[in-house]
Amino acid sequence: MDNKHIKEGLVQIKVPEFDKVSAKAPVFYNPAMELNRDLSILALQKFQMDLGEEITICDAFGGSGIRGIRYAREISGVSQVVVNDISSLAVQFAKENADLNDVQNLEIYQNDANLVLRERRGEFDVVDIDPFGTPSYFVDSVANSLKADSMLCLTATDTSALCGTYKEPCIRKYNAVPLKTEYCHENGIRILAGFAALTFAKYKKSVVIKFSHSSEHYMRLYLQVEKGAKESDESLKNVGFIIHCRKCLFRKPVNGLAPHIPDKCPECGEKTQVGGPMWLGEIQDADFIEGMIGLAEEKDINTEKKALKLLNRCLEESNMPATFYDLHVVCKKLKISAPSIVDVMESLEAENYLVSRTHYNPTAIKTNAPLNKIEEVIKILLALD
Ligand SMILES: C[S@@+](CC[C@H](N)C(=O)[O-])C[C@H]1O[C@@H](n2cnc3c(N)ncnc32)[C@H](O)[C@@H]1O
Repeated sequence: MDNKHIKEGLVQIKVPEFDKVSAKAPVFYNPAMELNRDLSILALQKFQMDLGEEITICDAFGGSGIRGIRYAREISGVSQVVVNDISSLAVQFAKENADLNDVQNLEIYQNDANLVLRERRGEFDVVDIDPFGTPSYFVDSVANSLKADSMLCLTATDTSALCGTYKEPCIRKYNAVPLKTEYCHENGIRILAGFAALTFAKYKKSVVIKFSHSSEHYMRLYLQVEKGAKESDESLKNVGFIIHCRKCLFRKPVNGLAPHIPDKCPECGEKTQVGGPMWLGEIQDADFIEGMIGLAEEKDINTEKKALKLLNRCLEESNMPATFYDLHVVCKKLKISAPSIVDVMESLEAENYLVSRTHYNPTAIKTNAPLNKIEEVIKILLALD
């Protein structure tokens, strides 16, 4: 078997030669996930600094070992990293790669992630779940395993289910109905977060979302875990549904697990669609993201420019309402061409509405202005042209 050598961050690893990135590769390594790993280093360093003590990390789906090895080498204040994978070949490469990088504080296991998490319950400050496709099969074990003041990093690559291209798989895996709308990627993140919050609540644990993003073909969440039945009950008040009208683009979040949901759009009377249950609370934490931005310059990451662009957009989005308006979709409904996004934002700001861009879509805005106000502003801008 020919090997390929790869340099990423402060480490170099070898993996068996492959033509195409796929789950069928003998040992999985995806260069497109470098941004994901770089952002993880910033997030976990920020988490460690906030905790103010040494942390232990479990990379439960280690693959080539690159993620766990980078965590051990590039995050300060890490006492131990446990890298696990179910594949014997992946484990063999992870061991060789750990030696290649002279990492001492690394343990390597070959097991099913569910078993490692259950067997080593309460041991880890951070667990990273980065499987092929859905993480849903592992959320129960990690909810059982994680202790108070810990962090869960969660990747999902089954975006077609979470975004509603395929409805039934989303219902099966996340027990939630997706909504195929222009803001479906945000809904996907919210469905994943809602599923985690509901699962953790079974174990009297709650989650606070510190940072989340949808990039290329995956979604990633960083959740801080707290313990307590009351806190869990309180946290579940953030779970609910989104009502959406396909005809007039009206949308509204409705909190609660059994809320009253009108089946007619209050604006145009059309039958509405409903997505959820999903997390309707905050999905970006401004302080946490600011900390990550500050660390980006200190750490030696190749994707610094991309990471900073994404982090700054996510920072803008914090404290903004759920869902966003794609100006192209609004203008298509109005049968007019779209004005400049900057002009629309300035017009709304001039009327004291909150408005920001969003990392989900370069032609979209988040705002607390009602849709008819956005439409009015667009029409005025076009009349001025
Ligand atoms: C997407 S890859 C992980 C990539 C790695 N985290 C990285 O950043 O390069 C998923 C890995 O999970 C492993 N895997 C699949 N099912 C597993 C299970 N039930 N328990 C543990 N590992 C599993 C696969 O062998 C594969 O190496």
